[in-house]
Amino acid sequence: MMTDWAGLPVTYGDVLRRAMDSLFRTFENFSEGTFIVDAQARVVWINKRYAARFGFSDPRQAIGRDCEAVIPNSLMREVVNTGKPILLDIMETDREPLVVTRLPLKDDAGVTIGAVGFALFDELKALTPLFSHYSRLQQELIATRQSLAQARRARYTFGSFVGTSAASLEVKRQARRAAQLESPVLLLGETGTGKELLAHAIHGGSARANQPLVSVNVAAIPETLLEVEFFGAAPGAYTGADRKGRVGKFELANGGTLFLDEIGDMPLPLQGKLLRVLQDKEFEPLGSNRIVRADVRIIAATSADLPALVAAGRFRADLFYRLNVLTIHAPALRERPSDIEALAYAMLEDLAAQARGGGHLELQDDALRLLCAYAWPGNVRELRNTLERAVMLSDSERIDARTLAPFIGSGQGGGSGLHGAPGRVQTPTPVHGRTPSPATADAAAEPASWSDAMAAFEKRFLSDALRANGGRVLDTAKQIGMGRATLYKKIAAHGIEV
Ligand SMILES: Nc1ncnc2c1ncn2[C@@H]1O[C@H](COP(=O)(O)OP(=O)(O)O)[C@@H](O)[C@H]1O
Ligand SMILES: [Mg+2]
Repeated sequence: MMTDWAGLPVTYGDVLRRAMDSLFRTFENFSEGTFIVDAQARVVWINKRYAARFGFSDPRQAIGRDCEAVIPNSLMREVVNTGKPILLDIMETDREPLVVTRLPLKDDAGVTIGAVGFALFDELKALTPLFSHYSRLQQELIATRQSLAQARRARYTFGSFVGTSAASLEVKRQARRAAQLESPVLLLGETGTGKELLAHAIHGGSARANQPLVSVNVAAIPETLLEVEFFGAAPGAYTGADRKGRVGKFELANGGTLFLDEIGDMPLPLQGKLLRVLQDKEFEPLGSNRIVRADVRIIAATSADLPALVAAGRFRADLFYRLNVLTIHAPALRERPSDIEALAYAMLEDLAAQARGGGHLELQDDALRLLCAYAWPGNVRELRNTLERAVMLSDSERIDARTLAPFIGSGQGGGSGLHGAPGRVQTPTPVHGRTPSPATADAAAEPASWSDAMAAFEKRFLSDALRANGGRVLDTAKQIGMGRATLYKKIAAHGIEV
């Protein structure tokens, strides 16, 4: 457009010429960097300040080099190759990012003979809002990536598995061996026996430790969403909330480990698909026509009696055999009472550090006897919850049987119809299974007053939040933004079963 001036009145041509001339000069004056390359993207010219910024004390040292050798993130090559300008871009450098403009230079025949780039940074007041927006997004992205990487790393190591009973040592030995191998691992055991902890430790001790560990709790996801959760979906593949498409857990776990918790709850059709992926090591996200290779190690866990589910036709035998290669039974806590003391002390140390800023908590002998006498249907999780509650609601740092007794068995530790060994428990009696939630009953009843309605709402809200967090009070408190002590008091006040 600038080259064909023949048809213009003389004065117009002059204005245009001056426009071009002054445009370049203005940019040159006001930009912090001017950079010109030839058709091979080699540096033809660079101004002094810009050269200095990239470590060339004399701009002449940069002449003739590839543009990327001078400015690592330069896109001037793209401009010469495409002949198209990049009018406004943000270029990362080892210091602050620069706003850059890149324009192709053309000869009279329209052939690209090079490119000119301007970097604008000091005179950028007008772009400040844009810049701060950009850097905020950039910060958020970094933070999100970090927390994601953190979340996908193993949270526990073998050292986190407390216990020196013969049963515990054997479990740890098997888990360590499993970490050395590549085949699937099946973790069996009642709820709260440390299956998830072991899964993390196995991943963390394996050759895949630096790759992601991705967890799916099969029981926590509605059946209709499970397939997409596992295998992902192409954009627009289904009319769910995720019109943008979704990356499945299998793909996220690629190269690493996929932990399938409560696999006994997996619907039969999905079991078939899972088996196929384990055999073929590839799959196709829903509606995508895209084959994804899945190099994923499976660690599955369940508190269900899998062989019984197989016998009942609710779990595919072929999938069971495929998973049942390295099988580890996490023993119930009542089968290893000698671990209780060490576990309790490890947990008290943890709790003291969290709640009391590092104070020391002591268990009296009678309290310890009480802990050892109870059958712990919710196993280690229940032990932890019980101690947590006792610590939060008692003023003393020395916990005796009298302080402890009201909390034992007062909330079940996530047990689902698991029974303590009969005859072992003197006092108090463990709660067997879950009674119909009083929260739901309250919610359904017509409230008599505003305060009743608020109380009913609060009870239901807290019960739901606790359930969503697997009964973990600290996690729940964090999630709903309530102080721990407040939450404990409300749990006690409403008589919520945790
Ligand atoms: N041997 C153990 N040593 C220390 N903490 C344990 C042990 N076993 C379980 N826990 C703790 O008990 C809770 C429940 O364990 P988890 O691994 O989630 O059990 P599961 O998956 O079998 O239900 C977690 O807080 C976990 O850290
Ligand atoms: Mg679990």
